[in-house]
Amino acid sequence: MKDTLTIALSKGRIFKETMPLLKVAGIEALDDPETSRKLILDTNHDNIKLVIIRATDVPVYVQYGAADLGVTGKDVLMEHGGEGLYEMLDLQIAKCRLMTAGLADKPLPDGQIKVATKFVNCTRNYFARQGRQIEIIKLYGSMELAPIVGLSDIIVDVVQTGSTLKANGLVPLEHMADISSRMIVNSASMKIKHKRLKNLLEQLRLAVDKKQQQQ
Ligand code: ATP
Ligand code: PRP
Repeated sequence: MKDTLTIALSKGRIFKETMPLLKVAGIEALDDPETSRKLILDTNHDNIKLVIIRATDVPVYVQYGAADLGVTGKDVLMEHGGEGLYEMLDLQIAKCRLMTAGLADKPLPDGQIKVATKFVNCTRNYFARQGRQIEIIKLYGSMELAPIVGLSDIIVDVVQTGSTLKANGLVPLEHMADISSRMIVNSASMKIKHKRLKNLLEQLRLAVDKKQQQQ
């Protein structure tokens, strides 16, 4: 709708870490997605709604204009490719690293390496740039299990503290990219709702800067 700004967020860490920034910009949710089954949340502004969707779906909603803007991890954004949207602001939240990881003390095979991941495009691009031969095994989660049961030689996943790798006898190997969450905007909305979006992005930029200074 022309007058409504729709913001796409995923439940969990992105919602929790984005809401304090939106609050500084004067936007507060009237429901909590952890307790409500609603997928569209009202805010303290009649013309601002939040849609609560899977993290991997956020760039898709924004690409097609079903949401004007959204918050997504750089990992998810790289995997999506960024078509139809602009990456406007690094919110400096949900920070982690995209890494390869494998079993401790297990050398990699000389030839083709089997890589289990949900980040198929990022993985293909990373290894192609290095001229390394791989077979990708697409998974949707619990990647750490794959090398343990012999499904793959290594995995590509995000790592923050490293405790999930450690708990499963894996070690981090190669650092592929630093990851944080980004505010993305539908390219058509950026034109049609330019003034409101510019104003909101400016307030969010100030909120991010203020938080960075306090840390
Ligand atoms: P989906 O629900 O679609 O499978 P997901 O489970 O990866 O996605 P979240 O776990 O909420 O969704 O992660 C959202 C984003 O937060 C990721 O895209 C990544 O950028 C970042 N992230 C993931 N794991 C961590 C972590 N352990 N620490 C910090 N940031 C993380
Ligand atoms: C993410 C990721 C790793 C873990 C890394 O999972 O898939 O498993 O975090 O974090 P660590 O290095 O601090 O252990 P998450 O906790 O988001 O669970 P999910 O994949 O089921 O969403």
